[in-house]
This record gives sequence, structure tokens and C-alpha cells, in this order.
Amino acid sequence: MESLGVLLLHPVNAYLEQELGRRCRLYRFWESPREEFLRAHAGAVRAVVGNANYGADAALIDALPALEIVASFSVGIDRVDLAKCRERGIRVTNTPDVLTDDVADLAVGLAIAVLRRIPQADRYVRAGLWKSRGDYTLTTRFSGKRVGIIGLGRIGQAVARRVEAFDCPVSYHQRTEQASVYPNYTYYPTVVELAANSDVLVVACPLNASTRHIVSREVMEALGPKGVLINVGRGPHVDEPEMVAALADGRLGGAGLDVFEDEPNVPEALLGMDNVVLVPHVGSGTYETRKAMADLVLGNLEAHVLSKPLLTPVV
Ligand code: DGY
Repeated sequence: MESLGVLLLHPVNAYLEQELGRRCRLYRFWESPREEFLRAHAGAVRAVVGNANYGADAALIDALPALEIVASFSVGIDRVDLAKCRERGIRVTNTPDVLTDDVADLAVGLAIAVLRRIPQADRYVRAGLWKSRGDYTLTTRFSGKRVGIIGLGRIGQAVARRVEAFDCPVSYHQRTEQASVYPNYTYYPTVVELAANSDVLVVACPLNASTRHIVSREVMEALGPKGVLINVGRGPHVDEPEMVAALADGRLGGAGLDVFEDEPNVPEALLGMDNVVLVPHVGSGTYETRKAMADLVLGNLEAHVLSKPLLTPVV
């Protein structure tokens, strides 16, 4: 792969960066002003590597005449202009499967953290309040809660399997019912109905035009003052200003959020709320998974160069 010019859009992972540097001709996009870089190197870039927040949009694709492949260090490829890639015959790969367990673990962890108030209890101990004020406030049980999942794909199914172990009845919404595959899960044809019949609502679907703001004001009101919203999908799945307002005035009980509409910016109001648990888009953020994701990116680039079938093609 030595001759493959690879443009890394963001310092996504140290191992991946090191291996790309060792195996390819690596360009780091953040090291020089964009226009200057493109003037000097646009023609040499045959591959782009981005991630969940840094993708190849139409403007970048147009600026790279020799681009052959976009290999995303993420399962979600909502930041890649797929239509443009198809039009230009540019191949696109992502990193499915290897991160499923970690993202599902985090979804369940967030639900338990919100209901059992784990971060708040931790702060209580650290602040010395256990000694001065006595026992911590009572919290809410997770076991047995009705869990509704938006999107029963790989991650949604992994969440469902996990919460079954907590005796949680599972229901779901997606475009089509899959009764023969999931006979034990209840299907709701609308997200509002799903939310109305859930204590915990988990967003686990891909982001596209039809799922943007799928968690609307109406959905949050259906989930209700005791309901908990868990988002391990993408920030724009949720109407964020409506969520902030619903959490602030008690129309929504709580939220566990791994993703936000304008990362790394988090709405100021959320930072002061006691009924939310916030983490910085770390669903796949374990040593094990990030290494596996990096190996998939490298494997896809290698397959491309050797004209072999791509490991995880999207386009
Ligand atoms: C992805 O890879 O798309 C996820 O957002 C990782 O957390």
C-alpha cells in the first residue's frame, strides 16, 4: 500500500494513524490550512479516512479528483455523501459488528446510571456528603422496566438481548415489523406508540433523512415524566432543544446521552441538570473495539489496493 495516498481527516486513533503512516503515504488534514493542502496534494489523495464526526462531504469529494475509497472509522456513515460517492464510483466502507457489544453495553449502562443515579451518588460520596447528610436518596429500579428500542438492527438487537437478562419486556419500532424473527418483542408501527408503552426508550437506528428528529416533542411527551431517553445513535435523532425543555420542566424524566446534535458542543442547560448522564460519544471507545475498528479500516484499504473484495463495503 506504500503508494496509496491516504487523507486522514482527524486524529481518530493513535494505532490507526501509526499504521497508516507506516503502510501508506499519509496526509493529516488538520496539519495545514484546507485550501493550501488541497492546492498541493489533492491529486495524490486516493483514499479518505474519517469517523463519526468527520466524513467526506460533497465539497471534499469534489476537491479530490483521484479519490477511490472512503474508509470510515465508524459504523455510522451519515457524514459521508453516499450519493456523491455512487455517482463518482467511489467505494465506501465502515466498521460494523466489532463495536456492537460496546455500544449496547453503554446503552444499558446509561439506563442504569440514570435510574440508579450512579454519577450523582458518586459525587455525593466525593463531596463528603455521606458523612454530613447521611444516606443517599432512594433511586429507581431498572430490572423489569419496559424497554423500547428504535431500530432493531445489530446494536438494537444487542441491547434487547442484554435487557432481557434484566427481565425487561422489549418492544421496538422500525420501518417494518419482523414478527417471525422477534416473536417475543412487541412491534409498534409508530415511535409515539412505542414511547407511550416504554419506561426506557433507546435510540439505536442509523441517521438518515427519515430518522432525523425521530424523537420529537410528541415522542418525549409520550415517554413521559418518568420515562428515560437513551441515545447511542446520533445527536440529530433527537430534537435537542425540545429534549432540553422537556427535561427542564419535567415532561421527560431523564436522559442518558452519548451523542449530541453539535458535538463536541453540549447544550449548556444540560450541564446543570441532575436527571441526565452525559458521556462524550464513547459508545465504541474501548481499547479492544477501537483496535478492531482500525484493523477493519486497514483491511479495507488493503483489499482495495489488491483489488480484492472489501471486508465491510457500504457502497
Ligand atoms: C459509530 O461508529 O458510528 C459510533 O458512533 C461509535 O460510537
